[in-house]
Amino acid sequence: MERIQILRGDITQQEADAIVNAANCSLLGGGGVDGAIHRAAGPELLAECRTLNGCETGKAKITGGYRLPAKYVIHTPGPIWRGGGRGEPELLASCYRSCLELASANGCQTVAFPSISTGVYHFPLDKAAAIAIGTIAAYLRQHEEIRQVRMVCFDENTEKHYRQALEALEGDA
Ligand code: APR
Repeated sequence: MERIQILRGDITQQEADAIVNAANCSLLGGGGVDGAIHRAAGPELLAECRTLNGCETGKAKITGGYRLPAKYVIHTPGPIWRGGGRGEPELLASCYRSCLELASANGCQTVAFPSISTGVYHFPLDKAAAIAIGTIAAYLRQHEEIRQVRMVCFDENTEKHYRQALEALEGDA
């Protein structure tokens, strides 16, 4: 599916209509990609996040992009991996779906995702990549308004897993 692209890079430099932030439920910043996005966006991002009153795992909230090249930031708290028996797979799929629904509702045609939950939240990369690519592909089949989704991978191992997940999906097509 050519509308899904896998690339290596830093999501804060993506010129997409919206970039997704792998946040925590407070939406008040953190380390990892959350920290990078807040540093690049500047203090107005945190100021707007403070007005949002947090966000539940698997759901998403949208803010401006401020100093980022992206117009919007869509914040979603991914599930913390606790062995896979606590609904983590369904919650991760819900993160991707919730973000895409907000992107559609806000007229975004291009959306860039990081690898949600596979850092500090320890979600196994192979499982996360399959869930992400499967959920994104299913959404794009029903939603022509989203022209392109990019998975922005910060390291080679992450990129490898998302490429494999996309190849597996295309193999089934
Ligand atoms: N661009 C793209 N991807 C990045 C960047 C970046 N600038 N920085 C980190 N990443 C990647 C990580 O390498 C990992 O592959 O984002 C992925 C998600 O890792 P985390 O940022 O640790 O996010 P997550 O596992 O979802 O944990 C969320 O971490 O930062 C805190 O506040 C955040 O509490 C929340 C938790």
